[in-house]
Amino acid sequence: MDATAAPLPGQDAAHPDGQYGAAAKWFHWVTVGLMAIALPTGFVIKFITGEADGAYKMAFYAIHESAGLTILFAALARILWKWRNPAPPHPAELPPMMRTAATATHHGLYALLIAQPILGFLATNAWGFPMQGRTAYLGFIDLPKFMEASTGLANVLSWAHTIGGYLFLLLLAVHIAAAIFHHAIRKDGTLMRML
Ligand code: HEM
Repeated sequence: MDATAAPLPGQDAAHPDGQYGAAAKWFHWVTVGLMAIALPTGFVIKFITGEADGAYKMAFYAIHESAGLTILFAALARILWKWRNPAPPHPAELPPMMRTAATATHHGLYALLIAQPILGFLATNAWGFPMQGRTAYLGFIDLPKFMEASTGLANVLSWAHTIGGYLFLLLLAVHIAAAIFHHAIRKDGTLMRML
């Protein structure tokens, strides 16, 4: 830390390289909570079989789709917020390779936070199951149907949504491993910037 330089956003004794603002932290941790719902429910749905009325499976769809769509809304609001309130810069001593890796991972995660719910949403429409009735948004908001059912398109959208799910797993593993690496091995305070 250069004592003569202007203070960084949120800089104090516990955060010598600055920290994210309160809104950025909220967006981050609310997204973590919603992802903790959307990702496992997505992977589990196809294993729920054999029910007479399908109520249990429908509840999984409803929870998955509502959490997923809320992730999209949160990501759009977050990007707007970030545009007006830029993140604190990378710590000065962070090697260029780590800066590039961090920026690429973060951009990839943002891209998936937008693309994955849109693909899922369009897939439900293409299968002829828009978010209405038992899968209404948040359980009570019927969303309009955006297209007529089309099995060919539905298959492509569902395939892309599955690939998105695995890409998410990959990028989240890199992201979490990096946070642990910074905190436990480099001990450079990176994780503290988001707490
Ligand atoms: C960031 C948000 C989301 C994530 C991370 C996510 C993730 C996933 C994952 C991992 C799967 C399992 C794929 C597979 O095993 O083939 C899945 C399936 C699915 N998702 Fe999403 N999803 C999200 C948002 C949405 C949204 C917004 C909708 C609809 C409005 C949706 C609808 C579906 C449907 C219909 C399935 C197929 C379930 C089945 O019958 O097997 N998803 N999702």
